[in-house]
Amino acid sequence: MMEWTDRHCRTFHRLLTRRALIYTEMVTTGAVLHGDRARLLGFDPFEHPVAVQLGGSNPHALAACARICADLGYDEINLNVGCPSDRVQEGRFGACLMAEPDLVGDCVAAMKAAVRVPVTVKCRLGIDQQDPEAALDVMARTVRAAGADRLIVHARKAWLAGLSPRQNREVPPLDHARVHRLKAAYPDFTIVLNGGIGSVEAAADHLAHVDGVMMGRAAYQEPWRLLDVDPFLFGTPAPFGSPKAAAEAFIPYIDRATARGVRFYAIARHVLGLFHAVPGARAFRRHLATEGVKPDADARVLRQALALVHDTAYEPAHTAAA
Ligand SMILES: Cc1cc2nc3c(=O)[nH]c(=O)nc-3n(C[C@H](O)[C@H](O)[C@H](O)COP(=O)(O)O)c2cc1C
Repeated sequence: MMEWTDRHCRTFHRLLTRRALIYTEMVTTGAVLHGDRARLLGFDPFEHPVAVQLGGSNPHALAACARICADLGYDEINLNVGCPSDRVQEGRFGACLMAEPDLVGDCVAAMKAAVRVPVTVKCRLGIDQQDPEAALDVMARTVRAAGADRLIVHARKAWLAGLSPRQNREVPPLDHARVHRLKAAYPDFTIVLNGGIGSVEAAADHLAHVDGVMMGRAAYQEPWRLLDVDPFLFGTPAPFGSPKAAAEAFIPYIDRATARGVRFYAIARHVLGLFHAVPGARAFRRHLATEGVKPDADARVLRQALALVHDTAYEPAHTAAA
């Protein structure tokens, strides 16, 4: 998620779930081809499995970028067909590609020919005046025919004129049922549902209708939920017995990164939402947000903040509900 997630966030999330597939934010083909690749695409092997998301609409450029990313070790290459920002529309990619399914198909085919790892697409239900029944169906059919390994659908339309990117994540209504119907129509194509999934329990309910679920804001803002993913969705133990234990395990990574010159708060900001409804959660956030931004802040600030939180043992959602 642009401006929210980065490699530090992905490492932190990987401590909370060993099984979920983690995606990068969108990186444009222009940035991959001409930018600082180490900064834009660098990742820690601990992040695997990790997918990179590309933004672009030139099949040759996308193929070149897919190859670069696969050579770097990314496990999947995803094409963004959902971002509604003006900047992206000027570049003729993102959500406006919902109106150009054949071009998306050409992009997928070019990327597939360039790499061996899965190539996937993330799209919307449609844009503007498009009929979501027809627009999504055509997109699914076209990318599948081009060789896409999976389609992730953010289950709302994007309005390209008049709504900001933020409004476009909230105003057009969610229609999960449309994505359930898409899966029913394409039983042998892997369909993943995204949009408004607020808990791992809700994700599990959707898995009766689709092959996978993607969580965005809930995963970022309430990362404690990710401790539910492995036991609840994959039947394997949670990596840590409590959110606090996971945060303590993050400290060696923070020490290494700050020793390389990364600002402490650039990492610690991702941890702010880790505690929910436990004594000390507010004091934890306040300490991190006030002390963590100081120029000499380092992992000691996280240790001090953790000392303010009551260490509540983690209870998987399914046992808590029982
Ligand atoms: C700050 C922010 C940045 C985002 N950046 C991206 C992005 O780079 N690529 C993308 O496919 N979606 C991006 N999204 C959209 C999310 O991936 C997701 O589709 C959307 O928020 C709906 O899912 P959710 O309700 O689980 O958050 C972003 C969302 C937010 C809030």
